[in-house]
Amino acid sequence: MENLHQDIENHYFKEGLYEDIITRLEEQDIDVSKVSRSDIAGVDEFHVRGAEVSKELATRIDLKEASVLDVGCGLGGPCRMLAEVYHCKATGIDLSHEYIRTANKLSKLVNLDDKTTFIQGDATQLPFEDNTFDVVWTQHVQMNIPNKKEFYSEIHRVLKDGGHFLFYDILKKGDGEVSYPMPWASSKNLSFLLKTEEMDDFLTALGFIKEQSTDQTQAGIDFFDVLVARLKEFGPPKIGLNVLMGETTKPKLMNLLSHLKMGALELKSGVYKK
Ligand SMILES: C[S@@+](CC[C@H](N)C(=O)[O-])C[C@H]1O[C@@H](n2cnc3c(N)ncnc32)[C@H](O)[C@@H]1O
Repeated sequence: MENLHQDIENHYFKEGLYEDIITRLEEQDIDVSKVSRSDIAGVDEFHVRGAEVSKELATRIDLKEASVLDVGCGLGGPCRMLAEVYHCKATGIDLSHEYIRTANKLSKLVNLDDKTTFIQGDATQLPFEDNTFDVVWTQHVQMNIPNKKEFYSEIHRVLKDGGHFLFYDILKKGDGEVSYPMPWASSKNLSFLLKTEEMDDFLTALGFIKEQSTDQTQAGIDFFDVLVARLKEFGPPKIGLNVLMGETTKPKLMNLLSHLKMGALELKSGVYKK
């Protein structure tokens, strides 16, 4: 498992990520003493449809002042949104040391460091007491995790009774082969795709009750079509997911788009209650 974790960290690693984001802000003549969440929104939400889909997911339940854990939080954009808009006490955990360092610095940059906490750690061994959070949130993380039972059991364990689990994920559809690279995995050995029915079975077996489910596939395809057209016309943006994926951005995004279009992968969001 240690080797897999190291390979996953290497896959996402981008040296000097925070400093690169600052340079890119300065290159756009943004005063770095006055950065807002919207200035960094193109890079701090590493999932299909970025900030837009997180805002949508946040409307699904009453989040006001909730204590929220974002499992596999990346650079922490969703935690900052939940802290600022819903006054949540937002905690993020991620395997990547560099992402956690960047998440903490970005929160300080936009003056949300007193409302967000980011810690490095493994989603399958959460360093929290049982029944700690009102809400557990995760977006585009489980594809990197082979032991789904541990992943969902830990989420269930740290949620309070009556608490909500909110997810937005990439799931496998049908039995066709998936080819790589993908944004979450350069090759097959880092990817552990699950089907919607299998995820539902894990969650139901733990005692979760399904409250909502939304197929986000078409919305994701529409988003990518616009993004690809913009990339063709204007090239990579200063602040975009290309900052995280570098030279492999285009093949990864095009590959994900084609799998969504041919029905080999799907995007789903939803809510379960403990
Ligand atoms: C595609 S990114 C999504 C990040 C974030 N959820 C977002 O939507 O902006 C996947 C994230 O999962 C994290 N991750 C993968 N395996 C993990 C594990 N076992 N424990 C914690 N984080 C993990 C990666 O480090 C990466 O930050």
